[in-house]
Amino acid sequence: MRCSVAALVVFVAACSGARNPVARVAVASTVVATTAPVGKTPPTVAQVTTEPVSIAPVSATSGPTASVVRPESVSTTLEGISGADGVGDPVLPLAGNGGYDAVSYELTLAWDPASNRLSASAMIRAVATQNLATFDLDLRGFDVLSVDVNGTQATFERDGQELRIRPAEVVPTGSNLSVLVDYSGVPEPVADPDGSSSGWILTNDGATALGEPQGAPGWFPVNDHPSDKATFSFIVTVPSEFNVVSNGLPATPVVAGLLTTYTWNENRPMAPYLATIAIGHFTMTQTTTASGLPVINAIGAGLENASQASLARIPEMVDWLSELFGPYPFDSVGAIVLDAPEVGYFLETQDRPTFTAVPFDAVMIHELAHQWVGDSVSVATWQEIWLNEGFAAYVEWLWAEHDGGASAQETFDATYSAHAAGDSFWSKPPGPGTMTSAADLFGEPVYMRGAMTLHALRMRVGDTAFFEILKTWTITHGDGNVTTIEFIDLAEAISKMALDDLFTAWLVTPTRPAR
Ligand code: TRP
Ligand code: ZN
Repeated sequence: MRCSVAALVVFVAACSGARNPVARVAVASTVVATTAPVGKTPPTVAQVTTEPVSIAPVSATSGPTASVVRPESVSTTLEGISGADGVGDPVLPLAGNGGYDAVSYELTLAWDPASNRLSASAMIRAVATQNLATFDLDLRGFDVLSVDVNGTQATFERDGQELRIRPAEVVPTGSNLSVLVDYSGVPEPVADPDGSSSGWILTNDGATALGEPQGAPGWFPVNDHPSDKATFSFIVTVPSEFNVVSNGLPATPVVAGLLTTYTWNENRPMAPYLATIAIGHFTMTQTTTASGLPVINAIGAGLENASQASLARIPEMVDWLSELFGPYPFDSVGAIVLDAPEVGYFLETQDRPTFTAVPFDAVMIHELAHQWVGDSVSVATWQEIWLNEGFAAYVEWLWAEHDGGASAQETFDATYSAHAAGDSFWSKPPGPGTMTSAADLFGEPVYMRGAMTLHALRMRVGDTAFFEILKTWTITHGDGNVTTIEFIDLAEAISKMALDDLFTAWLVTPTRPAR
């Protein structure tokens, strides 16, 4: 469905809900609840999906015991299919999997610093969206020791990044699918097509996990696609000299002998690539913003003083961003500062962006902006990456102007002039139709031509409409997934202008647009 703006105003829930795993759970539960009694013909899919959605969604904490019991005669005769090995993302075809929607991940990990070995178990709670004879999780490396599905041992095979699981019985569409994977090994970083590393990464002070765009399977079994958000719990055991920091909010650590177990809970929907843990000798600080939002920082040993200036501005930046985009979308904020300069990038890990070196204001505002554009409002596929990076880069320009630096117009002009008409910068437009290679996802055009697209839009529609477009975008699509088409529709509806020519020139045409 294409959600036009007029429709959005009335059907916000329908447009974003169709992409929301929790909403899909509600529909799926209805299917199960209307299953015919034993001996009767089960209703067809067409019949049950016309039932009104009336029962509560399955909660993220519901376990295998929450499964609705199906009559034995139904499940034994059910024809299952194999869930697809990817969601069909045009840039990363094997990312994610078909046949189910993840609801929650509970990751229990123990890390040994001497060997860098992880001993782990992952409980993935999901809902089947097809009758599943087999389905996949994404997992790179490790020895898989056992897989249970709904409490019963399953068989499995490995095929590249796919962990293919065959439950003892077909899992009926609409029913709960809980998968327990025990695994261990020394993780290898994931090599990304642009030459960078993600997944499990050793720092100079411990270790961390960074998932964009395909690193999450480097440390846990996962439906690794931004379109399948879920809640997360991280239960991490390390030698007591270390701290562990993650997304969300911490529980009280538990000391047992020489080991300490740290628990962090992310209770807001999160794309798997934004999941992180960092292990190190951290200085932890906890304060609140004026509005009461917890600010939790973890700062690597020796980086405290150099990081202080930018960390101190987090509350001010969150307040300023809340004016631009609407209320902060999650339950806490903060930053993780690590000594890992060889990583070469920072990441907008949810609630708590990761800086692999000392942060400065421009990158702090960039990663905080991503909490709205990227983390709360997420891409529907990786082709749409400019909706993350172009927006966060443009926020850097707006912040610089607000903070007494160059105006956004000056930065636009300087960027435009820095790239002559024949420059290869202009031959790689960042729009979804032309974004086909994973090696280009974080290229300069995605950030800078993306930001220029927004500035060109602002010049066309004027400040009032432009800032209304930005705020409506983030508020309307919070916790959802989005496409460029939806952004163009929104911009046209709010400005009451036809804007196809502008977006085509800035996002699609492989030459320098007129300014
Ligand atoms: N999204 C990150 C940011 O803009 C950048 C990033 C994540 C990245 N993964 C990457 C850049 C891999 C290059 C390669 O802050
Ligand atoms: Zn970014």
